[in-house]
Order: sequence, then structure tokens, then C-alpha cells
Amino acid sequence: MKEKILVTHKLFGKYLDKLREDYSVVEGGLEKIGGCAGVISMLGNKVDRKVMDVAGEKLRVICNFAVGFDNIDVGEASSRGIVVLNTPGVLTEAVAEHVMALTLTVARRIVEGDAFVRAGKYKGFEPDLLIGTGIRGKVMGVVGLGRIGRWVGRMALGMGMEVIYYSPHEEDEYQLETGAKRRGLHNLLAAADVISINVPLTEDTRGMIGKEQFDLMKRTAVLINTARGAVVDEGAMIAALKSKRIVGAGLDVYTNESEVNEELVKLTNVVLTPHIASATIEARMLMSKLVVEGVIGALNGKCPENIVNKDVWEKRRLSK
Ligand code: DGY
Repeated sequence: MKEKILVTHKLFGKYLDKLREDYSVVEGGLEKIGGCAGVISMLGNKVDRKVMDVAGEKLRVICNFAVGFDNIDVGEASSRGIVVLNTPGVLTEAVAEHVMALTLTVARRIVEGDAFVRAGKYKGFEPDLLIGTGIRGKVMGVVGLGRIGRWVGRMALGMGMEVIYYSPHEEDEYQLETGAKRRGLHNLLAAADVISINVPLTEDTRGMIGKEQFDLMKRTAVLINTARGAVVDEGAMIAALKSKRIVGAGLDVYTNESEVNEELVKLTNVVLTPHIASATIEARMLMSKLVVEGVIGALNGKCPENIVNKDVWEKRRLSK
């Protein structure tokens, strides 16, 4: 009998068919995980101890259709010998492009302009209509220099910005390539015109941008968050936006997804998108390929490159 793989959301291309060649694919929510050998989960699926209990002894691989995996209790999975995979490297450019799209949308007041035209208010060119700010020569502060942060920096350089970054490590090669300069977090927040959050959500980064950090920012600063909502203290951000402590924000992620704080919705100096930073057809196809190939590889003794808990590989659960 074929082993079962649970797939909690739609995949792209023909990858589900590939999985079906050797496995019985179960489509639906985590409540269907019992007896499955693998699960392809999404960031809205909380894969915790209880879910792993329901899955039972057969579960050998959890693969998240996302680069972030804060929705998975990796420690618990590791202690049970369950391999965890994610989708790094295939959505880097998509997310960085969204960072730049949000940056320009806020800086150039695109959403307000669109609403103005649709409301029939446009009566002809006026020199002082919806004045925004240019970004050439401004400072992009990248918080977190992983794959996405690096690409944000490259794109910002290409648009004539100066780039500074916050990272626990000196990134010599990147500095040589781009001329970007490393700064301490407080120093970066005080110097940047645009602040792009590109760190994963961990116990160390949860709430790392709070009132104290907003108070350091320039009054003209724009905050862009495409990482995870909980990295920023939402209450402190709303207060900073309301009081014009900073000029605006572009957000793709929220603290309690899929709820969006009503206070945010009321603000006109914020652009909101529904967690679509990686939503390009190119990225979705590659993510689908990576998750399917990763799950098949892991279940067949081939250690996938996109393994999150590599230390578990030698001690992993094997099929019974
Ligand atoms: C991810 O993959 O973690 C991102 O949040 C998608 O935009």
C-alpha cells in the first residue's frame, strides 16, 4: 500500500501528480494528518506537538511551503526524529521585489493617487498634488542579511540608494561586492530612510522593533515588513504611525494572521498587502518543485539541501 502524504494547500504545476506516482496524496487540513508519512504544510498551519501526536509514528517529514518555519515546532520534530524542510533560495528575488514595490508605493503615494483618480478628483496636472519623496541618495537599512536581505540591498543600490545592514556577523564578501556597511541596530535605525525587516521570527527577534526602536528612527523614515508581523511590536508601530513619529509603512505581514488590526486599516500612511511578497508565478512553481522533490528525497534516504534540522538526519525515523 502507498504511504500517505498530506498536502494542506494547492501546489502549482504538475508537482502533485509527481507525488501521486508513488504516494497516496491526502488533501485538506491538519486534522487529516493521522497515519501520514509526510506533510506539506503552509505558514498558517501550526505544526506542534499535538499535531505530531495525532500524526503518529509514521510521520517522517514535515515540509513547509515557505522559507520561514516559525509555525513548526522544530525542536519537537527533531526530538522525534522527524525531518523538517522549507523552501529557501527560490523566493528571494520575489520577496525583495515586493520590498522595493512597497517602498516606492509608500514613498510615491501610489495608493492615494489611485484612489484620487478613481474618485474622479483628478482635474489636471498640479505641481503640488500628492508630493512624495524620491529614494535616490537615501539610505536603505536592511535588518537581517540573509538571502532576501542581501537581494534587497542589491536592488536598493541599483536604485541609487546607500545601503547599511544589521547582522550579527561582519559580511565581508557582501561588503566588498556592494559597498554596504554594517551597523549596530540602533545606529541603523537612526540613520536609515527606509528600514526593511528581513529577519526570521525567533524568540530573539520577536518584538525586536518596539517603542524604543521607533523613537530612534527619523521622522521621515518608512518601515517595510515582509518578514513576520511579530518581529515588530504592532501597538508601538500603530502609535508611531498615528503620531507621525515615522512617515509611513508598507506591510505584508501581521502579528495575528490572518487578522489585520483595525487601527492599521484606518491609517492612510500605511500600505497593506495580504502576505503576497513571494506570490510570483516563478517563485510558486519553484516552491512547489522544491517541496515535492524534498519530501520524496527525504522519504527515500536522500538528505535534501533544504533540510532545517540537519543534525537529525542520521538519527531520523525510518519507515516501519
Ligand atoms: C515565507 O516563505 O516565509 C514568506 O513569508 C513568504 O512570503
